[in-house]
Amino acid sequence: MSNVFKGRSLNIIEDFSIEERRYFFRKVMELKKAILENDQAKQDEYRINDPDFGIYSVFLENSTRTRESFKNAAKFHHAKFSELLTSGSSINKGESYTDTFNTISGYQNSIFIVRSTVEGLTKLLSEETAVYTKRNGLPYTPAFINAGDGKHEHPTQELLDEFTFLEDNDMSFDSIHVALVGDLYHGRTVHSKADGLKLFDHVKVDLIAPNELQMPESYVEKMEQNGFEVRSFSSIEEYLKQPEISTKWYFTRPQLERMGERILQKQEQLRQSITFRKEFLDKLLPDTRFYHPLPRHKEHPTIPVWLDSMPLNGWERQSINGYYCRIVLISLIAGIIGDDFVPSNKEKAEEEDEYIHEVKERKEKKYAEYSEGIKPIKNGLVIDHICKGETPKEIREHMELISRVMHLDDGRGGHWISRSSDGQFKGLLFCPDAHNLTQRDLKRLATVAPGSTLNIIKDGTVAEKYRATTPPRVYDFDDLCCTNEACITHPVNSENVPAKFVRTKDGQFACAYCGRVHSFKEIWKK
Ligand code: CP
Repeated sequence: MSNVFKGRSLNIIEDFSIEERRYFFRKVMELKKAILENDQAKQDEYRINDPDFGIYSVFLENSTRTRESFKNAAKFHHAKFSELLTSGSSINKGESYTDTFNTISGYQNSIFIVRSTVEGLTKLLSEETAVYTKRNGLPYTPAFINAGDGKHEHPTQELLDEFTFLEDNDMSFDSIHVALVGDLYHGRTVHSKADGLKLFDHVKVDLIAPNELQMPESYVEKMEQNGFEVRSFSSIEEYLKQPEISTKWYFTRPQLERMGERILQKQEQLRQSITFRKEFLDKLLPDTRFYHPLPRHKEHPTIPVWLDSMPLNGWERQSINGYYCRIVLISLIAGIIGDDFVPSNKEKAEEEDEYIHEVKERKEKKYAEYSEGIKPIKNGLVIDHICKGETPKEIREHMELISRVMHLDDGRGGHWISRSSDGQFKGLLFCPDAHNLTQRDLKRLATVAPGSTLNIIKDGTVAEKYRATTPPRVYDFDDLCCTNEACITHPVNSENVPAKFVRTKDGQFACAYCGRVHSFKEIWKK
């Protein structure tokens, strides 16, 4: 059985399955014990112990804990550790990230640890360096660890957060009730919780933040789709007035560096609602623990320093756990441990690949029977059921987009708004000149008009009829664009990375790099 962890990248927390994470946490517990008890033989089972094994750290954004714990974890491994000094690198001469990391991957480096403001960067780099090392006949494929990318994710922080929760949960995966407090809008560590907490069988999450800093709706929806019970509160004060108070409070700092001017002007008032005060102490339940990914702001900490010496303090152990977790993560990716893990394969959901389905059982009807007010076409295409249930204005706007995407706007034909038999509005596109759609055309149609039906009209009769559903993946079309300017694929970042989307559980499109969720109307260049 091969080692499933060896050479793997960790770009988002979901890159490791739930059973893989559960295995990981058991290993972290074992290694932590070995270090605290100075059991050298057990520690050696985790070590790479190879001075030529290259671990490269590249921090394009400030960090203390993540950078230093990885540096010390690499030293534990007795491996070759290097850091790119970005202030003196050719990135500042306009070199692309792809060229920069391809270059370093050529110098016998197997694991890269990368922090950046650009979202989805490590996913791109893991793809590009794999091609580069293969092209150059190098005997390894670099693995990437996302050490935090913009507002997107911080998967190694998620691992150490979950490990610390587990320690305070008697290592039980049964259930968890967590309160997330602070800047839930900008904080990537709380965004990673939407998938990270799936580790537990039953999850209840309380979101405590003023409106301006509340969790983005897409993450709340993801939590709900994942079966979490989610409640929202505007302040700690409001939270403490209700009876179901959590014993696990996860605080985050207001991320001033990511806020716009409008929110910054209100920072004092916003901070009030997410900062713990002495008067709240006697409302807490016994055995309550506070956690924080840190750093705390020295003037305005949401967990004030007078709490440091209280049993509530879980954040210092959490920070120290980062060292153990990162040692074990490197051990796994290097293939030193993990041989005994056998995946159950239960977690891979079947993905429906078909997106154009022929409608076979239908009445032979003249196209003219369901056209309204215009002369029916004898030959060509009719796209029906467009945006059924939306308003006529919305339908009309979207039909213009469909025409553009399908290149149907330069021939004869037109748009029509009609009513279905159930009274709802729907759009129809008539294209007498369009014939013979290619497979690429059909994929574009299914992407831009899921739920529509495609009628191929021959001699005034519907000769073939197809129903379009959302494809599982969309890429390789140069008019796609992620709307997130922080995403590595967005044109403002000038990295020339084509946009790519994957279908979400609820039939929307998530950017394959930064994860931003879009409707089928939003993924096209303006
Ligand atoms: N928690 C965390 O990522 O801290 P640093 O920004 O100091 O690495």
